Amino acid sequence: MSTNSIDSLLHESRRFPPSDAFAASAIASPSIYDDAKDDRVAFWADQARDILHWHKPFTETLDWSNAPVARWFGDGELNVAYNCLDRHVIAGNGDRVAIHWEGEPGDSRSYTYSELTEEVKRAANVIAALGIGQGDRVAVYLPVIPEAVIAMLAIARLGAVHSVVFGGFSSESLRSRIDDAGAKLVITADGGWRKGKVFPLKAAVDGALENGTSTVTNVLVVKRGENDVEWTAGRDLWWHDELAKADPEHEAQGFEAENPLFVLYTSGTTGKPKGILHTSGGYLTQVAFTHKNVFDLHPETDVYWCTADVGWITGHSYVIYGPLANGATQLMYEGTPDTPHQGRWWELIEKYKVSIFYTAPTAIRSAMKIGRQVAQRFDLSSIRVLGSVGEPINPEAWIWYRDVIGGGTAPIVDTWWQTETGGIMISALPGLTTLKPGSAQVPIPGVKIDILGEDGTRVDPPQGGLLVVSEPWPAMLRGIWGDPERFKEAYWSRFSTPAADGADADWKYFAGDGAHVDSDGDIVLLGRVDDVMNVSGHRLSTQEIESALVSHHMVAEAAVVGAADEATGQAVVAFVILKSNQPVPHTTAESSALLRAHVAHQIGAIARPRQVFIVSELPKTRSGKIMRRLLQDVAEGREIGDTTTLADTSVMEIISDRLKQ
Ligand code: PRX
Repeated sequence: MSTNSIDSLLHESRRFPPSDAFAASAIASPSIYDDAKDDRVAFWADQARDILHWHKPFTETLDWSNAPVARWFGDGELNVAYNCLDRHVIAGNGDRVAIHWEGEPGDSRSYTYSELTEEVKRAANVIAALGIGQGDRVAVYLPVIPEAVIAMLAIARLGAVHSVVFGGFSSESLRSRIDDAGAKLVITADGGWRKGKVFPLKAAVDGALENGTSTVTNVLVVKRGENDVEWTAGRDLWWHDELAKADPEHEAQGFEAENPLFVLYTSGTTGKPKGILHTSGGYLTQVAFTHKNVFDLHPETDVYWCTADVGWITGHSYVIYGPLANGATQLMYEGTPDTPHQGRWWELIEKYKVSIFYTAPTAIRSAMKIGRQVAQRFDLSSIRVLGSVGEPINPEAWIWYRDVIGGGTAPIVDTWWQTETGGIMISALPGLTTLKPGSAQVPIPGVKIDILGEDGTRVDPPQGGLLVVSEPWPAMLRGIWGDPERFKEAYWSRFSTPAADGADADWKYFAGDGAHVDSDGDIVLLGRVDDVMNVSGHRLSTQEIESALVSHHMVAEAAVVGAADEATGQAVVAFVILKSNQPVPHTTAESSALLRAHVAHQIGAIARPRQVFIVSELPKTRSGKIMRRLLQDVAEGREIGDTTTLADTSVMEIISDRLKQ
């Protein structure tokens, strides 16, 4: 984040207390923070018992003896899908709409809890008949359609593990995720709708499996795009054919609370994405608790809408598991906000009378750019709570969001969390907290956050430092798929202290984010402090994109930085040295365009660099480390900082001169 925006965040003086009416009907009780403070572990045990149905009640809440791998509710058993479906039907809420779904071309479908339960039971029978059982991995590569929810819940119902891959990722990315998880089945669609066109998915799956060495034995294909697909007899099956034949009855069995629920790949500081592992009981407890309390959910009357794709953690926790565990009615939308017109989202809020709306700052900033008159053409008076996630929200966007989308009254919860944390960790509670634009504010009850200096001691407010989680939390990741060492190294090595002299080890989870704590004790997030970029709320690693660039035959060396960008928060900017031993048949502009397309093809369109600069040198220290800080200065158009540690101090002049040409 630029120094200017940090200054404006830290000097923000506007305050928004909850209205009396909102506070009076709020879900979270005023004693919630004290309850959690008295005994954090007992607080989570109460939530787990209150919010979930247990096939076998737990007696043990937290086992931290194998830290940093936690066991929550370890001797209890539950079925995650039963908690999201059957029990609502049994409680008499079967006729409540679970999902209103709207396709991008304007087609729509709604599922009540009874209907969704039946579909999931059928799908579970189909998937079980394909040989999937407890612990098996299933890759899901689907658009935002109801079948994505049905597939994920059916897999969970069997105690199997889903690995959802965002539909915008390339065939290559899909292949590496399928291989890493050892998936036996892929569930995909022929294609999905995006920006008025059908994009193919099945073809990417075919590409990912073409080398024939994959662990995948079947591909289940949902018909959505109606585009032509190639068919491998014996391997490929149509979802609709199989579901039509399937038994609509399926009894949900209890699985132990630590049974793996899903793996979700995310970018780290190295080139290889990490398979973040989440398990069942603790995860579901925290996502359901936060969904209810952070969004002040009244399931009988609210219509909730989270705009995230199911391929990201926000889609897992706050489209699938949190809302459905709470028996909420929600809207899902397949397409982009500006198709077929720029007011599509606001039109949907009017149509479905959405009352809770959860999206990312990048979307709010695009809507601001388009202008408030577009949103104001629609009746948004149903909105009563707004949420933000994925990156820091600047006060200007916060105020616009509240005024234009929230009618000048709706509270905004700025929720900080990560793929690894599973659920929301820092957020206001809208009936209790006086809101401060630009600040995520306070840890949720039961979560312990600290801001530490480089030396590991807590900073005194008001001051900046590094964000850590100091106590285990229920939805925490349980590891990185297949790589326990990387799990310890990536998150726990920086600030934890080993056991010594009879004292227990002190485990601290390092999130990779910088944060400032103000004089009220409120937390302002300042962005990543590592080589992870945040582009439109999506995580990308500089190294992953560098690897993609050097995989191109023209490229000798590449360095990637995240540069501040008004629309997307950060943007990918690459500096590339071309191989000199071969004639390059392109102009510099052509080479840049080729390499931008190459990255999109290798990883997915979200990783396409905003700019690729062809340079003859890269700034390196004497030990050969690329000084990204200096490249960032160039990419952001700033004066170049201190170059004295460079092996060759003239390099930055050469680069700057080259870029001026
Ligand atoms: O840098 C933080 C930023 O997004 C990162 C996590 O990315 P991911 O795992 O993809 O999950 C995104 C959705 C939960 C964090 O390390 N981030 C997320 N929420 C916020 C945020 N930064 C500032 N404010 C937020 N509310």
